[in-house]
Amino acid sequence: MADTTAPPLIPAARSNENRSTTPGSTGFKSFIASGWADRTDALPGAREQAPFAAARRARLSAQYPGQRLIIPAGRLKPRSNDTDYAFRAHSAFAYLTGWGSDSEPGAVLVLEPAAAGGHDATLYFRERAGRDSDEFYANPDIGEFWIGPRPSVTQVASDLALHVRGIAELTGVLSAVDSETLVVREADPTFTEQVDEARLRFAAERVLGSTATDSPFSIEINAEHEPDAGLTRDLSELRLVKDAFEIAQMRLAVAATARGFDDVVADLPRSSQHARGERLVEGVFNTRARTDGNTVGYDTIAASGPHACILHWTRNDGVVAPGDLILIDAGVELDSYYTADITRTLPVNGFYTDVQRLVYETVREAADAAFAVVRSGAVFRDVHAAAMAVIARRTAEWGMLPVTADEALLPENGHHRRYMVHGTSHHLGIDVHDCAQARRDMYLDGVLEPGMVFTIEPGLYFQPDDLTVPAEFRGIGVRIEDDILVTPTGAENLSAAIPRTATEVEAWIAAAQR
Ligand code: GLY
Ligand code: MN
Repeated sequence: MADTTAPPLIPAARSNENRSTTPGSTGFKSFIASGWADRTDALPGAREQAPFAAARRARLSAQYPGQRLIIPAGRLKPRSNDTDYAFRAHSAFAYLTGWGSDSEPGAVLVLEPAAAGGHDATLYFRERAGRDSDEFYANPDIGEFWIGPRPSVTQVASDLALHVRGIAELTGVLSAVDSETLVVREADPTFTEQVDEARLRFAAERVLGSTATDSPFSIEINAEHEPDAGLTRDLSELRLVKDAFEIAQMRLAVAATARGFDDVVADLPRSSQHARGERLVEGVFNTRARTDGNTVGYDTIAASGPHACILHWTRNDGVVAPGDLILIDAGVELDSYYTADITRTLPVNGFYTDVQRLVYETVREAADAAFAVVRSGAVFRDVHAAAMAVIARRTAEWGMLPVTADEALLPENGHHRRYMVHGTSHHLGIDVHDCAQARRDMYLDGVLEPGMVFTIEPGLYFQPDDLTVPAEFRGIGVRIEDDILVTPTGAENLSAAIPRTATEVEAWIAAAQR
């Protein structure tokens, strides 16, 4: 049966009396509640990622015997007044359920310890309301008339191959919360407060019904939330090695991103005529993502001329002037949330100048040196070190460093990093900066394994007012970023088909504009 009560776990609609003109008259209410065709509850088959999500839950379950684990999807976040950002479920929730862009705000996954060992997984979500409820037509935040219908419990259960219950039943989970219950805190701070209160209640009851060893100190320990942080960390580390579904999604995201870059290249002549050409470049890339039915995984960076020296330039309100470079850092995200993250730096008029080419090919040399290190068993930080050796050597040769390249590379120095302050690589997947809560031992100091996917993205950025570099270098920013898969036999550059060398890039632009 549809859950038509107002669940206590989701706030009521925001008040906006000046906007709301929905009638409340008795005649209207009884009329709008009737005359609807029966809902057809066609049950979808389990989606492709359902068995992968089940295997991920099993791996998590094995790490937490006997403990209740709560992984909320999160809620809508206000953008301004009564309008929200597009909803995006927390990455750990998406990973463990397979529910991506069609997931419902306020949903919560609970792994309940099973008597026979392991856990039983239940997904709680706010199923659709009945046509006899006010919500149906009068609630702009969640009402079917306003934002569309939600699926039924049975539909979601079939789609995700999960045990599913209505959100109202989550109160039963809250009342069962004990000191061993863990929650992914950052996913839904409002719900986490309720879990914290329930844990404190549990601890207080234990103290009141005191045994000799109980003390109020145990309440303080829970308030530190360190066990919750451990859950977040473990969920991040589980995602370091991608399964077959994830790798296939990464390939699709990269292919979709390549199409966006092709469109940007073909449109460069128009962008270079526009007063805000960077906006147009962003729009062309994002239009391709939308045309293919996708979205972008992060704000597209379209940085022309000296803007390319600003690492995360997303204002994109500058010109795209012939003679300058344009750095485009963009990635298409699929319904499953997997995203590519690719950068190319293009000459706006189709040809690199000598100095632009020198910088570009140096960055490519650094990227190629980093790629050459990647294989199962190598250390993640050695990928960065290989790129840095090239950057240090070339900037020393160009007379930019006050020390030799070898001296610059000493741990206590790093002068060359003035021209590339960011790292060379980050893991990639559901989050553009994936697995960010993993321990250093597993990430920066981690050993590469087949199935890992990460970027290689060295750059050189010569700020327009940097007096340490010759005048002709100033204002040039170059980054080349590819998405790399560690394979059993070495490595695969998933984005290698997008032109990389200076000569390939010039030919790409010439061909697109013929
Ligand atoms: N694509 C932006 C970054 O990796 O920081
Ligand atoms: Mn990146």
